[in-house]
Amino acid sequence: MLKFINFSLFIQGHQAEWPYYAIFAQKYCILGLDCMTPAFKRTLVTAALPYANGPVHIGHLAGCYLPSDIYVRYLRSKGQDVVFVCGSDEHGVPITIKAKKENSTPQQVVDKYHHIMKNAFAEFGISFDIYSRTSNKVHHETASDFFKTLYDKGGFTEQVTEQYYDTEAKQFLADRYITGECPKCGNPNAYGDQCERCGSSLNPTDLKNPKSALSGSAPVLKQTKNWFLPLDKLQPKIETYLEQHKDWKTHVYNQCKSWLNSGDGLQPRAMTRDLDWGVPVPLPDAEGKVLYVWFDAPIGYISATKELLPDKWELYWKDKETRLVHFIGKDNIVFHCIIFPAMLMEHEEFVVADNVPANEFLNLEGDKISTSRNWAVWLHEYLEEFKDQQDVLRYVLCATAPETKDNDFTWKDFQTRNNSELAAIFGNFINRTIVLTRKYYDGVVPEAVQFTKEDLLVLEQMNAFPDKIGSALEQFKFREALQEWMNLARLGNKYLAENEPWKIQANEPERVKTIMHIALQISANLAILGEPFIPFTSSKLFALLNIVPLKWNSARQNTNLHSGHRIDMELSGILFPQVLDEAIDLQIQKLQKSKEAIATASAALEPAKAETSFDEFSKMDIRSGTILEAERVPKTDKLLKLLIDTGIDKRTVVSGIAAWYKPEDIIGQQVSILVNLAPRKIKGIESQGMILMAENAAGELSFIAPTKGTVINNGATIK
Ligand code: 2FM
Ligand code: ZN
Repeated sequence: MLKFINFSLFIQGHQAEWPYYAIFAQKYCILGLDCMTPAFKRTLVTAALPYANGPVHIGHLAGCYLPSDIYVRYLRSKGQDVVFVCGSDEHGVPITIKAKKENSTPQQVVDKYHHIMKNAFAEFGISFDIYSRTSNKVHHETASDFFKTLYDKGGFTEQVTEQYYDTEAKQFLADRYITGECPKCGNPNAYGDQCERCGSSLNPTDLKNPKSALSGSAPVLKQTKNWFLPLDKLQPKIETYLEQHKDWKTHVYNQCKSWLNSGDGLQPRAMTRDLDWGVPVPLPDAEGKVLYVWFDAPIGYISATKELLPDKWELYWKDKETRLVHFIGKDNIVFHCIIFPAMLMEHEEFVVADNVPANEFLNLEGDKISTSRNWAVWLHEYLEEFKDQQDVLRYVLCATAPETKDNDFTWKDFQTRNNSELAAIFGNFINRTIVLTRKYYDGVVPEAVQFTKEDLLVLEQMNAFPDKIGSALEQFKFREALQEWMNLARLGNKYLAENEPWKIQANEPERVKTIMHIALQISANLAILGEPFIPFTSSKLFALLNIVPLKWNSARQNTNLHSGHRIDMELSGILFPQVLDEAIDLQIQKLQKSKEAIATASAALEPAKAETSFDEFSKMDIRSGTILEAERVPKTDKLLKLLIDTGIDKRTVVSGIAAWYKPEDIIGQQVSILVNLAPRKIKGIESQGMILMAENAAGELSFIAPTKGTVINNGATIK
């Protein structure tokens, strides 16, 4: 009977959403049983494997790690069988680009960032069952086997195609090494595999005016053999799959649809790349080739499950009663809704995603979050500046989650949500309840003497929250779920405000007992239902109430704190202290500094000089040379006296580079030298020419020399 009541409550709350509800009911409800009982036996939740190439910021958290964690915590609290996997994506060009930038190796990059990221997630309570990494042996084996299985089934077509090649860097250019104009939306900075502005998945040859990210030069096309997934042939299967999932978020479904419907539909896509960093292609004739990162990364979900549950992993991937849910950001939609399912379907042994609740992007103070512009709130910095306040950020990011459209994080909103919601509504209610219980009853839960009609109504309303919040969470409506949770705190505050126990304690102590009994039950239920959102606070509240953490369905009753039970008298402290203006101003100033740094860097670029003719330019005789000797010019800070082999002769040049180079470090350095500059005396030394240097935004100088590994003879002309 009770279950029937829950069922009708659920319908009542969702009358406006019948079509969705019908699908939901069909999928999750076996009539006559608990409506919230899924038809599936277990859920496997994945969160996108982030590239291990930098620290974590709020955009990452809001995009998929926080919602997936909230969802999983909820399912665990419901007592469902759920496994939550994630890990670092350690392959692909983003890693090699970072290695180039940091002047280190891809392995060093992933070793460094894997641990930083893993710790940041743990600090914010993201409760992965495993946080693995794709450089693991188990992953390499799993991805190789997966590829081999598809290969043996004839799942790939072998194609010799023309791929972009950088003649200066002497290597094929994988997707992310090529930038150019998106043919669909005109974004001038689209990547070879994807346009981050419109979300289209691209092939490098689709880009207009392509440019190599390695050398900046225009790449040339060169032939190479690769293995392609024939997505064109798989389109009907993908269409059928998508039609079965009309319940997906509108923007996810629409993006997939537009992919399937654009131009000639899906096109074959290379699953291997000419690169030396990644999982080697497990075929004899594939030397120098690795698996495409978007082939290997999602298989990382399988490897991580294998690593976590060596004996049971297949149950979570191969049993039809497993429900697979991928949490991702919107830039990953096509890979999770089309390419990975196509791979899994072709393999034939695996389940495919039942839902992909992708979020849109989170902006910061009106601007796109950007690592390179340092326009971000970094989790490690937040932890230092807002010590032990992870739940505030979790709350704010959930309340403003970009669930259906891009959304903005602002520090002012952060302050308001902490001070006016967490502190003023939730914190205030808990505080009043605990303080009065200590004061009137020495911390012992009073008995409910007699419930009035109003009390019974409040209890009924209170008991409806687990299903209200749960139903929103099951539909991936995290903002709504959080709102509902805060409504429970509002209900508590309203109840206390209307009954004013502090005013009637002297004359009606028996009535106050009942009021405080109810307020305490609401507090316990706030701890239970708040756990997915603010787990640190929830466990503090359980400790304060002196009870073990309780499961979700316990919040359907009003007996979680028995009369006579003693709450903890020792624990004190405010759950959510005020966030002061100074703290917010500091954050805004920090962002302002990032803006100024960017402005300074662009202002530092000198405007282009007046036009010159080719004839004028040809008068410059610039040669390649080598530094033979170097010494400081006495009594100066800036000058070095260099002896240069110009190929034509050996000559002395005085150069203002002493602040950046030590004489002993540059012997043998190749340089570009203007040899026909009229000689001039500097500090009494005749300087015969000028070394060409590049100056960056910070005013640092570096030599213009051949790329590493290339030898240019002294005297070679530079034109
Ligand atoms: O966009 C990214 O950060 C990718 N590394 C996500 C990969 S998700 C999955 F395929 F592993
Ligand atoms: Zn675009």
